[in-house]
Amino acid sequence: MNLQLKPHAEVENDHIDSFRLDVLKGLKKNPKRLSSKYFYDKTGDRIFQEIMAMPEYYLTQCELDIFKNKTADLARLIMPENEPFDLIELGAGDAMKSTFLLKHLIEKGIDCTYMPIDISGNILSVLKEKLNRELPALQILDLEGEYFEMLQKAASLSTRRKVILFLGSNIGNMSLEEAESFCFSLHQNLSSGDRVLIGFDLKKNPNVILDAYNDKKGITAAFNLNLLSRINRELNANFIPEQFQHYQTYDPISGACKSYLVSLKDQYVIISNEKISFQEDELIDMEISQKFSSEKIKELREKSNFITVGEIKDSKKWFVDTVWQVK
Ligand code: AVJ
Repeated sequence: MNLQLKPHAEVENDHIDSFRLDVLKGLKKNPKRLSSKYFYDKTGDRIFQEIMAMPEYYLTQCELDIFKNKTADLARLIMPENEPFDLIELGAGDAMKSTFLLKHLIEKGIDCTYMPIDISGNILSVLKEKLNRELPALQILDLEGEYFEMLQKAASLSTRRKVILFLGSNIGNMSLEEAESFCFSLHQNLSSGDRVLIGFDLKKNPNVILDAYNDKKGITAAFNLNLLSRINRELNANFIPEQFQHYQTYDPISGACKSYLVSLKDQYVIISNEKISFQEDELIDMEISQKFSSEKIKELREKSNFITVGEIKDSKKWFVDTVWQVK
């Protein structure tokens, strides 16, 4: 089902306009910033698939361990009774992990509609094609756009109980304050009895974490640099990506794992007729991948008024999927 109200070309223009505004606003800040939510164009989707396949990037393997080997436990946590419900996935991507859960629900004959939300229309069409092939009995309603807009759309389309999936430590792409207000708004947008399942990457040996984001082959570097190429392609700009260098940090105290691009020389770039100057060694703040302690997770839940249902960790105890409920 296609829920877009405007013609496709117009929606596309809206996307480009807000992308342009956001990019220019971020690059006029001090320090300069770009949002990692824009990493995921067609090339970015492909590079992220490569990241997930790297041995250093343990996150995917850990959460896959949970979804593959503890599927029935997961299903029990999100489903108190066998009543029909909507399973809404924020930032669904290729839904590699949730497919195990969906398969289990189908086999149990549970009446559930899967609603994947993603900012990448490209990955959503890939996903739909895959699910139609692998799980033909599954009802799918895909929603392309920003999380809360699409969540409201989902609520307007169905009054069934809702379960929100927010996997893969996607929540780590927010600062702790942003995560707090995100969880608070999530709670605000749901109804009594609705549940959320959130995947958090836990603090662990800092070298393990840094290695996952600073791979030797430079795949993560390419992931960051691709945003400059995307800006060139879509916003008529002239970044020379070779003149920027990826720099990764991890602070084991705060749990913030951050990536930057460093300008290798004094240079300027034209973006949609606006000139942006970079000094040598000037940074662009690109992405945060926040790591959590159990205490932080509890604090986040309490501040956003959710009650706890349960949690499941992978066998290494590096990653946790937590289930909360609206009272
Ligand atoms: C998709 C946001 C979970 O932060 O770990 C992977 C993205 N960035 N390597 C993460 C990412 C660099 C990833 N998330």
